[in-house]
Amino acid sequence: MSKPLLEMQNVSVTFPSGAGRVAVVDEISFSLDEGEVLALVGESGCGKTMAALALMRLIPKPGRAEKTSRITFDGKDVMAASVDDMRALRGYDLSMIFQDPMTCLNPVVRVGDQVVEAIRLHESVSYGAARKRTIELFERVGIPDAEQRFSTYPHLLSGGLKQRVMISMAVATKPRLLIADEPTTALDVTVQAQILELLRELQRDLGTTILLITHDFAVVNELADRVAVMYAGKMVEKGTRYELLKMPRHPYTEGLLGAIPHAAQRGHELNEIEGVVPPPALWPAGCRFTNRCPKAFEPCEGTLPPRIETSGTGVAWCHALAKASGR
Ligand SMILES: Nc1ncnc2c1ncn2[C@@H]1O[C@H](COP(=O)(O)OP(=O)(O)O)[C@@H](O)[C@H]1O
Ligand SMILES: [Mg+2]
Repeated sequence: MSKPLLEMQNVSVTFPSGAGRVAVVDEISFSLDEGEVLALVGESGCGKTMAALALMRLIPKPGRAEKTSRITFDGKDVMAASVDDMRALRGYDLSMIFQDPMTCLNPVVRVGDQVVEAIRLHESVSYGAARKRTIELFERVGIPDAEQRFSTYPHLLSGGLKQRVMISMAVATKPRLLIADEPTTALDVTVQAQILELLRELQRDLGTTILLITHDFAVVNELADRVAVMYAGKMVEKGTRYELLKMPRHPYTEGLLGAIPHAAQRGHELNEIEGVVPPPALWPAGCRFTNRCPKAFEPCEGTLPPRIETSGTGVAWCHALAKASGR
């Protein structure tokens, strides 16, 4: 067995709060093999973006990834990487489609030239060749009048178009690992389909490994090999796409999928579970889902849930599952 391309082990991200630092990502672990697509799902505020930013080493201050976190990319210790190492890694191997497109667009450079610059930093190609590739990419992500739009400044584009420019930029350099943070949330259904097709082609033709953060189970169904579910900073269940979509075991995953048997129509967002993710200060010492869980019983609130091997390769952390399986 070859080593995974990415290993995240016991990764924690903390922010200061009144009562010391609170872990908004709390000792989560997952790995990605080369060429694989892992979907990270969970409601808003569960720590998905912070987990991805830990890998990019871009946690905004005063947040930080805790020293106990182990992140290994292609054998390199990401937590110990120098600023220059990180810059090289982000330039060549890791690329992220951010939730907010302005995070990575330069307001004073024409959008086409931003993509051209990114390409030419990586490959010795002529301006003309890079320009041609950029316009092709713009067309593939559904930017109308791609050739004219090449010379536009970011602020003259709608949010959806900025998002598509950023997606072009993130994939133009053919990264080994692409982190796509809710890449299609702001886009209409037709464009969503184009973006998904582009991601699928990258994965199929270039073997790009993808960490896909999404709310949309249709996207999970179309792209993901494996799925990891987070709730309030904790990993609650992991498994293959089939295991998670067809046989969800954790009450939270069941809740997200709802009673709908085929959650795989495009645009099927996470099911609404009654209540909201409480703020970190109110998380129970035991299972954080306790106060919203239909299966909660005595040990849930005070004791951390045990790790249960579900079916096949799946795992979940749940007292009710432990009880049901006689442990
Ligand atoms: N700048 C910040 N200061 C304090 N807490 C923050 C900050 N940014 C994010 N958080 C906390 O981190 C949690 C996880 O955020 P995030 O990773 O963006 O969630 P998700 O991507 O799953 O919606 C949030 O619920 C919030 O409590
Ligand atoms: Mg997010």
